[in-house]
Amino acid sequence: MSAPHVAALFKPFKIKSLELQNRIVMAPMTRTFSPGGVPGDNVAAYYRRRAEGEVGLILSEGTVIDRPASKNHPDIPFFHGKAALDGWAHVIEEVHAAGGKMGPQIWHTGSTSHPTTDWRPPSPVESPSGLVGPGEPRGNAMTDEDIADTIAAFARAAADAKRLGFDVVEIHGAHGYLIDQFFWAGSNKRTDHFGGATLKERARFAAEVVKAVRNAVGPDFPVLLRISQWKQQDYSYRLAETPDEMADWLVPLAEAGVDIFHASQRRFWEPEFPQIDGDEGLNFAGWAKKLTGAATISVGSVGLSGEFLAAFGGESSQPESLDKLVRRLEREEFDLIAVGRALLNDPLWIRKVRDGDTQNLKSFSPAAMLELA
Ligand SMILES: Cc1cc2nc3c(=O)[nH]c(=O)nc-3n(C[C@H](O)[C@H](O)[C@H](O)COP(=O)(O)O)c2cc1C
Repeated sequence: MSAPHVAALFKPFKIKSLELQNRIVMAPMTRTFSPGGVPGDNVAAYYRRRAEGEVGLILSEGTVIDRPASKNHPDIPFFHGKAALDGWAHVIEEVHAAGGKMGPQIWHTGSTSHPTTDWRPPSPVESPSGLVGPGEPRGNAMTDEDIADTIAAFARAAADAKRLGFDVVEIHGAHGYLIDQFFWAGSNKRTDHFGGATLKERARFAAEVVKAVRNAVGPDFPVLLRISQWKQQDYSYRLAETPDEMADWLVPLAEAGVDIFHASQRRFWEPEFPQIDGDEGLNFAGWAKKLTGAATISVGSVGLSGEFLAAFGGESSQPESLDKLVRRLEREEFDLIAVGRALLNDPLWIRKVRDGDTQNLKSFSPAAMLELA
């Protein structure tokens, strides 16, 4: 039994082949604890602890597809090759043994660099137009062949996720990495099928990835797509300034096969658009659900006083009430809520919330990001 005021968090959820015991998703969080790209027993044990802590759905850290320059840090895990896939097979075995559900977040870091390392991949980085942001050249513009191979690599990763026994797959289309570099006019200057003046045109690459992934996993396996308005290159940037633009962006992606949009924002309670007649201040996930009819996951500073980019800047956060979140879930504004730092910090966070054990909720110190506890 959950404490009555948080009951909305503990309602089961079902979509296609996936059944979850509650509405809480562990947000994907890069941990760089996989030397040589291979997740080891420590990584499996870390995810198992979250399954034991009753996380409804665990999303893995970003794990990269089979392209020569798909990652920007040496210790990010691969999601290809025998050694890495054996490692992931062990992860999902452990998570299932503890009664959890999990999907990998499949990723290509595009032309970004990692803030904490000078490491470079063995081949030049790649992006739609050889830019990392507006007017900022970095690496190669992708050829037609590169694009076709990248789409195929996403599809292979998704097929491997299903083959290894994962429950869902999430495609990372957010935060200024490869797929988002196609969405963004500032980094996509292509004049072919994958570029154009409208967001709808620039979403064609993502739509092709989604279609290929859908073909690889079949109709009943849930496919998630993570999206964001903001980019690491520009935190205040917005791809869609109006609901119509957002519909042009997301409806074709839903049609291509996305079951669940994971709408990334830094603070889940912020309305996505200035209040419009009859709009109750829906957040990003709320609008994505309303416009596409797909299920959605919200995220951003759940249970903590500060947001995650400030945490990268060294700021600590204190536990925060969940009342605002519960009200939005009760209204069914979105279906699921992802929790990042609070779960990184404390695998038992969900049990404490459920049992009303608020005095034992932990503060978040950025030092937590340096270990795999
Ligand atoms: C250490 C760390 C690593 C992250 N890595 C990823 C990632 O690999 N993929 C991704 O989509 N988001 C990543 N994020 C963003 C989180 O998924 C989440 O959206 C963000 O932390 C906000 O949630 P929170 O306020 O509950 O922490 C990361 C966040 C943190 C703190």
